[in-house]
Amino acid sequence: MHYDGIEGKVAIVTGAGGGIGEAYAQGLAGQGAKVVVAEIHKENGERAAEAIRSQGGEACFVHVDVGDPESTTQMAEQVIERYGGIDLLVNNAAIFGDMKLDSLLNVDWDYYQKFMNVNMNGALLCSRACFRSMKERGGGAIVNQSSTAAWMGVGFYGLAKLGINGVTHCLSKELGPQGIRVNAIAPGPTQTEALAKTAGDYVKQMIPQLSLQRLGEPADLVETCLFLLSDGARWLTGQIVNVDGGQITRP
Ligand SMILES: NC(=O)c1ccc[n+]([C@@H]2O[C@H](COP(=O)([O-])OP(=O)(O)OC[C@H]3O[C@@H](n4cnc5c(N)ncnc54)[C@H](O)[C@@H]3O)[C@@H](O)[C@H]2O)c1
Repeated sequence: MHYDGIEGKVAIVTGAGGGIGEAYAQGLAGQGAKVVVAEIHKENGERAAEAIRSQGGEACFVHVDVGDPESTTQMAEQVIERYGGIDLLVNNAAIFGDMKLDSLLNVDWDYYQKFMNVNMNGALLCSRACFRSMKERGGGAIVNQSSTAAWMGVGFYGLAKLGINGVTHCLSKELGPQGIRVNAIAPGPTQTEALAKTAGDYVKQMIPQLSLQRLGEPADLVETCLFLLSDGARWLTGQIVNVDGGQITRP
């Protein structure tokens, strides 16, 4: 499917060295965007960018730690130097696959702070680094990666995603007047290596909780991301869109 307003645009996808982020990056490249694979894991980031180029798309790898303000500023500077500016940003990066499983009351405090810094503040830091260029180019769009976990009371992972929803809400108000839309996708359990590592056999127990009775695939999320970044969503901002097989439903 074609999505208006993406071709030729410069799109950064954080955490695009694998899993859902890589699927978003591939989808954007398929629409003719110049894609920046922004990743902390150099080898995975380079591989993902090369995979897009080998299919005829335009992509480059930029190293970033989304939890480090200096690193996010450098990411934006490198993208502007290479492609002339930034139009679209997908804040997908998170500590997920190898995260510690612990309760809010017991989690090691240093780990908690590092986790929240990457999983919640990362989206804000990348947005702060990119919005000026978007504004200069006449506007832009941001998609943040939330999770259904935000509404499930599941410790610091869910808390960080609730924070992502809050960042989405607040930034949509702050950036709307500058022509920048900000939305979020809240996926349900989606089959990636990271989910298998974190949730293990528990994943199978989630299936009966989903109206559509199956786990998601990264490809199930891509079109929502493309739509939210496209001109088709030109009057849509500040929304959290569940793409979850019916895991969370509200009357
Ligand atoms: N898979 C699921 O079931 C699921 C469900 C809901 C939400 N999510 C969210 O979707 C996103 C992707 O999940 P995934 O399953 O593809 O996991 P993943 O671990 O494959 O993806 C996360 C990516 O972020 C990168 N990353 C980690 N810390 C970083 C940092 N500080 N700076 C830059 N990059 C960093 C990792 O190297 C990895 O490539 C995450 O935000 C996750 O919380 C996943």
